[in-house]
Amino acid sequence: MRVLMVASEAVPFAKTGGLADVAGALPTALARLGCDVTLVMPAYREVFSKGLPIKPTGMTLEVPVGQRRATVHVLESRLPGSDVTVYLIANDACFDRPNLYGAGQDYPDNAERFILFSRGAMELAGRLAHPFDIIHCHDWQAGLVPIYRRTLYADWPAIARSKTIQTIHNMAYQGTFWHWDMLLTGLDWKYFNWQQMEFYGQLNFLKTGLVFADAVSTVSPTYAREIIEPPGGCGLEGVLAGRPDSVTGIVNGIDASSWNPRTDRHIPRPYGEEDFADGKYAARVALAARLGHAAPDPRPLVAFVGRLVSQKGVNLVLELIGRMAGNHEGGRARFLVLGTGDGEIEHALQRAAATFPESVDVVIGFDEGLAHLVQAASDIMLVPSLYEPCGLTQLYALAYGTIPVVRATGGLADTVVDTTPDTVRDGVASGFVFEPFDSLALEQALDRALEAHSDRDGWAAMVRRVMRQDWSWDHAAREYLSLYRATVAQL
Ligand code: ADP
Ligand code: GLC
Repeated sequence: MRVLMVASEAVPFAKTGGLADVAGALPTALARLGCDVTLVMPAYREVFSKGLPIKPTGMTLEVPVGQRRATVHVLESRLPGSDVTVYLIANDACFDRPNLYGAGQDYPDNAERFILFSRGAMELAGRLAHPFDIIHCHDWQAGLVPIYRRTLYADWPAIARSKTIQTIHNMAYQGTFWHWDMLLTGLDWKYFNWQQMEFYGQLNFLKTGLVFADAVSTVSPTYAREIIEPPGGCGLEGVLAGRPDSVTGIVNGIDASSWNPRTDRHIPRPYGEEDFADGKYAARVALAARLGHAAPDPRPLVAFVGRLVSQKGVNLVLELIGRMAGNHEGGRARFLVLGTGDGEIEHALQRAAATFPESVDVVIGFDEGLAHLVQAASDIMLVPSLYEPCGLTQLYALAYGTIPVVRATGGLADTVVDTTPDTVRDGVASGFVFEPFDSLALEQALDRALEAHSDRDGWAAMVRRVMRQDWSWDHAAREYLSLYRATVAQL
């Protein structure tokens, strides 16, 4: 099975969120199953800042974007520890910028940038020696690939028989642009209609992918059900309903080469389930030093790591902190938030840290190493998302013996089992789950977690149990492989 993975970010080259973790790990897992996988992504400035071996291929593409032809140099690298070739689409005007998609606001020419990327990927695929069976497109940034494959590139021998799969990592980010950007796509205006590329007068990249792909998947079974109706479908539920097939939901995995407490180079003392207490204590000491505290706080450490946007329920965390850190007991826990995103949320969090310095730390910024240290050092990880297609922070938490408190939505509902007398008896309890999207419900779930934490032996047993769970990519990769096989077999 030859697979071309088209993704706008991938670890270790460039990352803003979970998509990068997926695009950096799934190809290697598929390769282990015998697939021949190639990844294509943009050559952002960030890609060159990591000291990764990147070389020119000598291949230059002239990619049509509207009336002009943009010159693309194709660079080449590999996913570390694998044979997976990574092609980087280099065009300085589009990608040599400080951020991937924008700073605060989206770059105004994102339509053009990702038209260039998608079309560049097709031009490249069309020139490679061996045809691809599957072109696997991730999120809106690759959403035009399926229509290119069916129209402008339908006759190119290397891709004429390729099947396309569109994977939705987040239905709320659709890549919608003003209609005149149609001119940049090189596609006929006839496709700009409400059943294909148009969405309330705008050009919609994700919708296009969902309409033209041979198969559609998303990153958990529950999210697959949530997006076929409002509000989860974000207006595209009808598009999914109009497809002859259903959306396949495949839960993401954990890349054990980067997220493994036994080998993690970002933590001071690697640990396993047998010595988690020592490993977590060492991480706690290192974290305290990093935050400028004289010594680690003996109270349970409750963390939040993620994009500071409303999707992540960070407002609930703010309210919770305001109540719990501010109450007369002086707070039963210490809170730590690591994140970056919405400026107003960032400020509100910083104000909370300034008001309750004895109980709250806030680190604004994107810091991969610190995210690992926080996972290792914490006792409890809050993931109170409004919606969550899959979520990786709760999976990393489980691997690091940090008990997740999550809202029952999307992939969170599929990966965390609430603690009840029954689930404890059956040995499957792995966290604390709440339903209503409000901070009181979150607080009640956290109360249950803190109560459980006060039972030392019970907590240690739970930590050891969740650390033993297997969330490796192998399982998910097998499910993708069956989806590929079923898609290839389509007429
Ligand atoms: P999403 O993709 O919606 O942001 P996920 O839970 O799938 O959510 O993935 C988030 C990824 O981004 C995880 O690898 C998490 O550790 C990482 N991450 C989020 N915010 C930060 C941050 N401020 N610093 C470092 N890593 C972060
Ligand atoms: C998206 C989703 C997140 C998911 C990630 C990787 O960013 O918000 O839930 O884990 O993609 O699939």
